[in-house]
Amino acid sequence: MRDMVEIKDLGQHVGETVTVAGWVETTRSHGKVAFVVLRDGTGLAQCVLVKKQVSEATWEAHGLATQESAVSVTGEVRADDRAPGGYELGVTEMTVTGQAAEYPIQPKEHGVDFLLDHRHLWLRSSMQRSGLRVRAEVEQAIHDFFYGRGFVRIDTPILTGSIGEHAGTLFSTDYFGEKAYLAQTGQLYVEAACPAFRKVYCFGPTFRAEKSKTRRHLTEFWMVEPEVAFADSEDNMRLQEDFVSYLVERALERCPEELEILERDTSRIEHVKPPFPRISYTDAVTRLQAKGSEIQWGDDLGAGDEAVLTEDYDLPVFVANYPKEAKAFYMKENPEDTRTVLCDDLLAPEGYGEIIGGSQREDDLDRLLERIREEQLPEEAYSWYLDLRRYGTFPHSGFGLGVERTVAWITGRHHIRELIPFPRLMNRLFP
Ligand code: 4AD
Ligand code: MG
Repeated sequence: MRDMVEIKDLGQHVGETVTVAGWVETTRSHGKVAFVVLRDGTGLAQCVLVKKQVSEATWEAHGLATQESAVSVTGEVRADDRAPGGYELGVTEMTVTGQAAEYPIQPKEHGVDFLLDHRHLWLRSSMQRSGLRVRAEVEQAIHDFFYGRGFVRIDTPILTGSIGEHAGTLFSTDYFGEKAYLAQTGQLYVEAACPAFRKVYCFGPTFRAEKSKTRRHLTEFWMVEPEVAFADSEDNMRLQEDFVSYLVERALERCPEELEILERDTSRIEHVKPPFPRISYTDAVTRLQAKGSEIQWGDDLGAGDEAVLTEDYDLPVFVANYPKEAKAFYMKENPEDTRTVLCDDLLAPEGYGEIIGGSQREDDLDRLLERIREEQLPEEAYSWYLDLRRYGTFPHSGFGLGVERTVAWITGRHHIRELIPFPRLMNRLFP
C-alpha cells in the first residue's frame, strides 16, 4: 500500500512520520501512556501513544487492539535503544483493521499436540519464525550453490509409475484406472537429464508412507538431489562436503539473529568445513560392536547406531559402502568388495544422524536388471530407466539431502517437524 513502510526499514526514516501495519504482539497501558509492540513480518516496533496527543478514536483503538489484532499505525520514528528492534513510533493515529478474538497461544507452556493443531497460528511465534527463516535461507543457498556451479535445475514429476526407492513406503493413488505413486525421490529422472545437461539437480517435496513416529521422519519432506555425469563415489562425497559446508556458512552469515533466538550454540557448527571424516560401513560396524552394540555386518544402521558413531566427531561423518541388501537397487556394486555398493550416508553430529544418502549408480545394464529382479520390482516400469544404460551409459553419481533434517541440525532443534511450515506426519493431515 502507498506510503507504508516496513519495520526493518524504520532506521532510514528517523524523524519522519510514517505508517506501518502489522499484528499486535503485546500491549500495556499506564493510564495516560500506552505501548503496543507491533510485528509486521520484517521486525518488531514499539508504538507509544500519549493520551493527550492522540484523537479519541486512536486512544480507543488501542483498547481494542487485542493480541494478534491487525492494526495500522502512523507516527514519528524515533531511535530508542530500549525498544525491541531499536526504534519506536510516537503514534499520531492508529486503526484496528482486524480485531483478534481471544488468541489461543499464550506466553506459557503448551503441549506439542496443541501447538501442532494450531500450526496455522503457531507459525507467528518467534522460535517458529526463526526456524522457518533459516529454512528459507538454506533453500535459497541450495539454489545459489548449484547455480554457481553450472548445474541445471530439473523439475521432476510428483506422480510417477516407477518406484524410486523401496516398495515398503509408497503412497499410491488411482490414476485413471492405473496405479500412480507419489514420488519418493526425483533421482531416476535427474539421471535421465544428465546426458542432456551433465550436471543437474531437482528440489521438491518427496513422499514416504513412514509408519514410524520419530523425531526425524515426516511423510512429506523436501529433498534436493544433484546428479553428475562422469563423477564417481569419491567426487560425490567431495561435492557433498562442499555443499553442506556452504549451507552452514550461509545460515551463520545471514541468520545470526534467528540462531540467537533459537539459542543455537553456533560454536558447534562454525568449524564445519571440508574435508569431513570418512569411515567404511565395515569399520563402522566393528567400532559399534566394540562400543557394545549388537549390530551384525549386513544390518542397516539405526538412529541409535548413528548417534553412537558420531559421538567421536564434531563434523559430519561419511559412512561409505554399505551392504547391498541394506540399500536401494540402483547403487553400483563395489568392485573391491562385491558384497557392498559404492554409496555413502552423511551423518550429522550431535545425534542428528543421516542428512544425506548418496551413491554412484549402477551403469551396467545387465547388473542393473539383475538387481531390479532381485528386489522383485516390476521390470516393465523401468524399461525407460534401463534405456539410459542402453543408449550411451556413463559413470554417474548423485545424492539426496533432506532439508528438514539439515535445518534441524543447523538450528539445533530437536524435532524436524518444526522446520517445515505444515508438517505431514503419520497422524497429522491438518492444518
Ligand atoms: O537416503 P534416501 O532415501 O535417498 C534417496 O532418496 C536417494 N534417491 C537420493 C539420491 O541419491 N538422489 O533419502 C535422502 C535423504 C535422507 O538422508 C534424509 O535426509 C531425507 O532424505 N529423508 C527424510 N527426511 C524426513 N523424513 C523422512 N521420512 C525422510 N526420508 C529420507
Ligand atoms: Mg538413506
